Amino acid sequence: MKHGEIINKKPVETGLIDYEKTSKEFSWEAVKKDLFTTPQNKVNIAYEAIDKHAQTWRRNKVALYWEGAEGVYEKYTFLELKRLSDQCANMLRSLGVKKGDRVFIFLPRLPELYISMIATAKLGAIAGPMFSAFGPDAVRDRLQNSEAKVLITTPELKERVETVLFELPKLEHIVVVNSKEDHEPEEGDVCYNTLMKKASDRFEMEWLELEDPLYILYTSGTTGRPKGITHVHNDMISHYITTKWALDLRDDDIYWCTADPGWVTGTVYGLWGPWLSGISSYVYDGRFDAGKWYEIIQTYNITVWYTAPTALRMLMKGGDELVKKYDLSCLRYMCSVGEPLNPEVIRWGLKVYNLPIHDTWWQTETGAIMIANYPCIPIKPGSMGKPFPGTKAAIIDGKGNELPAGQHGLLALKPGWPSMLRAVWGDEKRFKEYFNVNGWYATGDTAYKDEDGYFWFVGRADDVINTSGHRVGPFEVESALLEHKVVAESGVIGKPDAERGEIIKAFVVLREGFKPSQELEEELKKFVRHRLAAHAYPKEIEFCSNLPKTRSGKIMRRLLKARDLGLPTGDISTLED
Ligand code: WT7
Repeated sequence: MKHGEIINKKPVETGLIDYEKTSKEFSWEAVKKDLFTTPQNKVNIAYEAIDKHAQTWRRNKVALYWEGAEGVYEKYTFLELKRLSDQCANMLRSLGVKKGDRVFIFLPRLPELYISMIATAKLGAIAGPMFSAFGPDAVRDRLQNSEAKVLITTPELKERVETVLFELPKLEHIVVVNSKEDHEPEEGDVCYNTLMKKASDRFEMEWLELEDPLYILYTSGTTGRPKGITHVHNDMISHYITTKWALDLRDDDIYWCTADPGWVTGTVYGLWGPWLSGISSYVYDGRFDAGKWYEIIQTYNITVWYTAPTALRMLMKGGDELVKKYDLSCLRYMCSVGEPLNPEVIRWGLKVYNLPIHDTWWQTETGAIMIANYPCIPIKPGSMGKPFPGTKAAIIDGKGNELPAGQHGLLALKPGWPSMLRAVWGDEKRFKEYFNVNGWYATGDTAYKDEDGYFWFVGRADDVINTSGHRVGPFEVESALLEHKVVAESGVIGKPDAERGEIIKAFVVLREGFKPSQELEEELKKFVRHRLAAHAYPKEIEFCSNLPKTRSGKIMRRLLKARDLGLPTGDISTLED
């Protein structure tokens, strides 16, 4: 059975054809002219991504192919998404949601997740998508910090975070999305389906300034609670052109981004990017399974695929024979993001898919792809590629001086691209820290540039852990561990791992009267997994009698890591004793 239809329309060649020439002649103004086909004073990303297409020949084109874990599938045209998001916007307005309010969305990858993201934008409200694997602490931190007014969730996910809801005085409504029609919401909750039925499917869009906020995604730093990275409608200029040039998407593509909108890839390239260009996007609300993934590509005629190195390494583990069972000839372009893409994986991709995999580099804060491999330049396996046209990337030293080719340093960007973060929600100080090095935007990564202008990833300049492409702050894991009654102190590091990039390892000092044991180790893992998130618990725990600390009492994670890996410990002059 085939689901993906090829739209019978000759594609316009919109890809990047000449990297050097385009970079030289590039102007964001020209991109704006291309995107905003009708000149307007006011904007809304939901208009450009959905409503605009619902007025053209694309109205009956499928915007979203959706498949649930249990084999259920649905499809939505641009016109249907326009009406449903209008209806959802009316529904949210009836609950008192106004421009600037925060609407947090804690849903599996259901159609309602996508519809409510669009609806929130239509209201001029700010969406906060949250990964459905989050636990109560992760959800509480985000809703508290953003002072969210509405939470959209399912009965199951609501139950998981029930214990923290009383800590959220600013939360006025919980909208419950239930697949069962006759669902009776709990007292105080409202039922998505019931309210949708009452709402009109005509909504007068809120017209906004380009600088009005669009979404907040929380991400981890070395210390402190996750930061609310705040993005604005102006980001769409970057979304639009990076989707065309780095993901090479064209009108007749059927595109699959495997990321969840709880991560920036899933928000930017799971919905806004492709829809700004009127592209059909496929969403699978199920777990990783190599065979199932190939079946998806074959069944839906997926042509462009954006995924992560961890997933590719797992597919590689699935073996060459499995690939041969499927007809994947529809695939024409592959991209990857989130972690270093091993040259070995690129070579394997060439062998089994007959396609090169294009690595892309960016961050929650950059809001769009910043460095990439493009169809028109040769790939150097292991390199992240070259800066996106209009983007100035550099390797700098601690004072902001640019370093020559070949030298390792801090990866920095010149501020001013359209999708750059505009704020850390409620924390001006942490926002400013990004621009501390002589006006550069400091990425927190270290890298080098080669003679040909290709960038190569080296590592993180801080203690942030990257496990399976998920960014985890050691402080959050340490804090979660400390909430357990047996834990006196903990230090958390990332430990290199062939499949996941890094795994989380915790060093734990127990309180007086408690003894290390296998059971206790398991209990602590389960505890963090439940409190924080399924991807953020320590896979390894080592009990110890003390932790290396600086004289001011800060845990020296660098030292823990060096000891763990048997590396030289470096400068230990600040060590306590
Ligand atoms: C960090 C950003 C935005 C995509 C998802 C991650 C690491 C990202 C690559 C790459 C090596 C990469 C960096 C970066 N990273 N892409 N192609 N090669 N490392 O977003 O959670 O904000 O994490 O992911 O360390 O700083 P994020």
